[in-house]
Amino acid sequence: MKTPLIVTLTLLLTACASSETKPEAKPASTVEAAQPQQIEESRAVAKTLATQLGGKLKESMSKNGPAQSISVCKEIAPQIAADLSKQTGWQVGRVGTRARNAATGVPNAWQAEALASFAERMKNGEKADTLEFAQVVTDSTGKHLHYAKAIAIQPVCLTCHGPADKIADGVKARLNADYPLDRATGYQEGELRGAVVITRPL
Ligand code: HEC
Repeated sequence: MKTPLIVTLTLLLTACASSETKPEAKPASTVEAAQPQQIEESRAVAKTLATQLGGKLKESMSKNGPAQSISVCKEIAPQIAADLSKQTGWQVGRVGTRARNAATGVPNAWQAEALASFAERMKNGEKADTLEFAQVVTDSTGKHLHYAKAIAIQPVCLTCHGPADKIADGVKARLNADYPLDRATGYQEGELRGAVVITRPL
């Protein structure tokens, strides 16, 4: 009758050991691919933000000059993002690879992952304008679609995001006053500047 006892003990020990090494708790989050329709809808909203903002910026740059156009980026950009968030019920915003606005422009974990994937794909020759990222994530906060669309530096952006020695003194003075922690200069044309980011509850 010794064998069953040993077997039982061994089973018990194995059970204990495995419950220690493999806790029963579910993984903190699960990630699935987004549906094509979810991506299309998100892409349309990201495009609306880019188009509206680009239009306002160009108009202001030619009418008022760069120093006076800082307010477009400072006030109108967040306003457009807030309006789109309200219309859709999603969180719509912009983040940077190096942020100017330390309060709103710094990527969170998934946004940093999206930016890193964009940078990697650009290294492999892909163009920034074609890059997007989408994932459906389920975690303790619920189920969400995470969507990001890459933003590249165009010539007009260099006025305020280019190398420091190329930025006009008047613009520099305004930027320094409003953004003492500004990290968003020193970019080159075509470089990855950041992303339009959307978090959408599902
Ligand atoms: C007139 C100056 C100016 C021009 C031109 C400009 N920006 Fe900005 N940009 C700013 C300012 C100011 C902010 C900070 C806005 C805020 O406070 O939310 C900003 C913020 C951003 C952000 C948000 C992330 C962060 O760093 O806070 C992105 C992305 C961005 N700009 C991309 C661009 C791109 C792309 C272009 C060209 C199409 C461009 N900008 C042109 C002044 C400018």
